[in-house]
Amino acid sequence: MKPHSRRTFIKTGAVATAGLTLADYAFAAPPAEQLALAGGPKTVNVPTARFAALTKWPRYGEAEKKAVCDLLDNNKYYQELPLFEKEWQEYTQSPFVKAHMNGSSALTSMYFALDLPPGSEIMVPSYTFVTASLAMRFFDCVPIFVDIDPHTATFDLEDAKRKLTPRTRAVEVMHSWGLPCQMDTIGVWAREKGLILLEDAAHAHGASMQGRKMGTWGTMGIFSFQTSKVMPCIEGGMGMYQQREHYERAAAFGEYTDPVKFPKDSPIRAYEGTGFGQKYRMHPLAAALGRQQLKGLDRLNALVEKNVKALNQHLTQLEGVTEPVCRPDQQRVYYHRNMLFVDFKKLGFTRDALLKALRAEGVDVNFWDYPEQHKLKIYSEAKWWHHPPAIPASMPGNAYVNANHIFLPLFYEEAPDVIEQYVKAFQKVWSHRKELA
Ligand SMILES: Cc1ncc(COP(=O)(O)O)c(C=O)c1O
Repeated sequence: MKPHSRRTFIKTGAVATAGLTLADYAFAAPPAEQLALAGGPKTVNVPTARFAALTKWPRYGEAEKKAVCDLLDNNKYYQELPLFEKEWQEYTQSPFVKAHMNGSSALTSMYFALDLPPGSEIMVPSYTFVTASLAMRFFDCVPIFVDIDPHTATFDLEDAKRKLTPRTRAVEVMHSWGLPCQMDTIGVWAREKGLILLEDAAHAHGASMQGRKMGTWGTMGIFSFQTSKVMPCIEGGMGMYQQREHYERAAAFGEYTDPVKFPKDSPIRAYEGTGFGQKYRMHPLAAALGRQQLKGLDRLNALVEKNVKALNQHLTQLEGVTEPVCRPDQQRVYYHRNMLFVDFKKLGFTRDALLKALRAEGVDVNFWDYPEQHKLKIYSEAKWWHHPPAIPASMPGNAYVNANHIFLPLFYEEAPDVIEQYVKAFQKVWSHRKELA
């Protein structure tokens, strides 16, 4: 008897006659080809140079080279900073912005601007970058570590509700891998509890929710333009402020020449020449890069999204594979790589086995466990804190996401053929999944 293809098998009703359900069929059908791991043919065959071109990051071109060289030639270095700030402000529609030397200095300035009494608690995800939760200690604030939602890898509001104390003053969310947090519900709760909402948008350049750009939902927020980020300028950051008072404090913290630019009634104007003891302004060459990168940001974000969707629409058909949930009113971007959740317990094989099989097929796949802040030495040593943070016993959301994700590459050029090969490689591995177990 001629073997059925999957399509004819379903079409002819052979599923029913064989007494199998569709779910059984995946196991019953003989795998088309041997896994590459077991000596079969490799599915993905993309020349190394092409793959390198598709995935190259960061992407600086002639416009960036010219901008940098022009700036070196014209000596008007510092004019570049207000120009970049103006363009970023217009793009994000933020009332006030300030260019900083990196995202970390923007965070530190933001904590200074908050001006909270010693011992104030600020909720932050433990699944974040170290400076987001550590820089507050310079101002005697205490991180309260909040879990992430395993469906999104972003801020878990229910966990925040459990951890609220009378000392909590602010809540800082992080749009992990470019996916916006649920800013509407978090915002409503924060307002109800009298908490200041802060936004770490270091991963989310160009992302928006309900038409409003990330970085403008919080009272204050930050971006990073570090090399790996969605809009890179080697090193750089931006502070985002809804209120003039916060902007002036944050800007003057790291820029002693800023106060004179503030209106006459500003209480910060008197600090011209001193600022508040730091020097955090952005490097003008970074601003020159940032201005050029901003011009191509939306186009590149859209292309990356198109490629991710073309791939994920097939991969999420496979059993146990899902992508972080993005609401219809959220426009996400993709930072670093394409994160997929794989339910290894349900599937009965390990991530190690999956990676080996996919890599043998030629798929560029890896994982990266975000270092959970609450487990790091510095938070548990009393000597670094006047008000030591509480260390949570467990963070099930972090643990699940770290153990059950894989990362696939982002393609920054048209790549329908490569995407097709990736889909085939996954389908082949899934048809052999019993062997992986
Ligand atoms: C979530 C998050 N916040 C803040 C930062 C700090 O940015 P920067 O590296 O520009 O100091 C980073 C950088 O990796 C980050 O990933």
